[in-house]
Amino acid sequence: MRAELAELRQSALAEAAACRTAAELEAVRVRYLGRKGSLNAILRGLGSLPPGERPALGALANEVKEAIAQALAAKGAELGAEHLRRALSEERIDVTLPGRSRSRGHVHPLRQVEQEIVDIFMSMGFRVAEGPEIEDDEHNFGALNFPPDHPARDTQDTLFVAAGEDTLLRTHTSPVQVRVMRSSRPPLRVIAPGTVYRRDELDPTHSPMFHQVEGFMVDEQVTFADLKGVLILFLRRLFGPETRVRFRPSFFPFTEPSAELDIACAACGTAEAPDAACRVCRGAGWLEILGAGMIHPNVLRAGGHDPGAVRGFAFGMGTDRLTQLRYGLDDLRLLFENDVRFLGQFPF
Ligand code: DAH
Repeated sequence: MRAELAELRQSALAEAAACRTAAELEAVRVRYLGRKGSLNAILRGLGSLPPGERPALGALANEVKEAIAQALAAKGAELGAEHLRRALSEERIDVTLPGRSRSRGHVHPLRQVEQEIVDIFMSMGFRVAEGPEIEDDEHNFGALNFPPDHPARDTQDTLFVAAGEDTLLRTHTSPVQVRVMRSSRPPLRVIAPGTVYRRDELDPTHSPMFHQVEGFMVDEQVTFADLKGVLILFLRRLFGPETRVRFRPSFFPFTEPSAELDIACAACGTAEAPDAACRVCRGAGWLEILGAGMIHPNVLRAGGHDPGAVRGFAFGMGTDRLTQLRYGLDDLRLLFENDVRFLGQFPF
């Protein structure tokens, strides 16, 4: 039995020393020191020995048990320390590494300019109104004093939604004038941004879908001087206080008299001596910005108002073109392609 105990001690210590994990070590403990382990199996044989030998062998068995327990504890501590060391080195976080930043989205440059335009008019007491993009002939043309044979109604320009040519995609934001006039009483000061459609091929200066901002004012005493004052103030707020503005006579069916407004090209010096090679105005010296005029009596009447009692002015401008001018973009398509390499340059 002494030999058995010595052998058991030796093999237990060797197995403990060879353990690489806490689980292996626990298996060794159960195998040798557990209730059904090898040591107990030997001790059960103690009873069959002559009584004189029992104390000495009992003491030896305890010594062996103690030695194995110590070896297991020492190995356990060693494995624990090693585990900690490995965890510390493998799971190390380098807090000095640069962070991974997430790119944030932002408002499209077109909408930024649109919002800027709307903000300027709101500061002058205008309110925002919207109308449907699918319109009927009456709102888009008829009530706006387009004669029945006007070329703008032509299938060349207008995108029709249904056969019969009455339901169409609005070709401008002017029908919002009609809708607001029919639903509200003067005084009216309204700004109407929106998307419009025309039968155009997509190229650097044309798109079948583009954007306008419409505005109008209707009240008892509105004059052409009010139109001039409001629009000059607007253009100087948008393009800077030094901006020079020019009014040219023009024609629109829904205004009389009508005008177009130009601003002096800021890119090529003076409008009187323009640079023939200027990329922005192409040598013209002036840039056409918007159309405007006094609302035609027929339009006031179609909107439900008495042209003898109220008058109004109206204007409309192309948001895409203003955005191109603002950022010096020579191709309209950049605004519609949704290329983040382009859009990312306007993170405001
Ligand atoms: N509706 C015109 C267009 O699409 C723009 C315009 C011109 C609107 C003069 C107006 C205006 O309200 O008075 O070209």
